[in-house]
Amino acid sequence: MAQVLLLCGSVRKGSSNEAMLRLVQEVARDAQNVDSAVFYEGLGELPHFNPDLDADPLPKAVTELRSAIAEADAVLVCTPEYAGTLPGSFKNLLDWTVGGTEICDKPTGWINAANPGRGEGAVATLRLVLEYTGAAIVEDACVRIARGPGYTRKH
Ligand SMILES: Cc1cc2nc3c(=O)[nH]c(=O)nc-3n(C[C@H](O)[C@H](O)[C@H](O)COP(=O)(O)O)c2cc1C
Repeated sequence: MAQVLLLCGSVRKGSSNEAMLRLVQEVARDAQNVDSAVFYEGLGELPHFNPDLDADPLPKAVTELRSAIAEADAVLVCTPEYAGTLPGSFKNLLDWTVGGTEICDKPTGWINAANPGRGEGAVATLRLVLEYTGAAIVEDACVRIARGPGYTRKH
């Protein structure tokens, strides 16, 4: 039985990416091979990455992030695209994983839900950075979902 850590790239109240991961949590309750799906709540608490801070004693939020990754058997990411790439806050989270070994070889996938023809930059950057961190990308666990025509960008 596996524990899956759910990492959301949005801190927005009412985030569609969080909604997607909350749905995954619901589905996981009935899944036979998943023990639990844990939603990581600390994205907004992480300090800006600074190599000077990546030393003992680590900031509490960073210790909590690395512990959450260490305790998980797998990681699932759901993040929006901002300005053609990952949100800065989520890239910041990934930067904090580089100095630890917790994410190395960790089976990792993502769900990308974007309007048709959009979201490519977020996925490409996510793959690039995850490869750099040493995460084990599970291709079968990386899916893109086209949002329906009812979704309208707000800007
Ligand atoms: C500042 C900003 C930049 C955005 N840039 C892009 C973009 O480059 N490509 C895209 O597909 N969507 C872009 N969006 C739309 C968001 O990805 C979309 O609203 C997404 O649903 C936000 O995720 P959330 O609902 O989980 O907060 C942008 C939104 C904002 C606020």
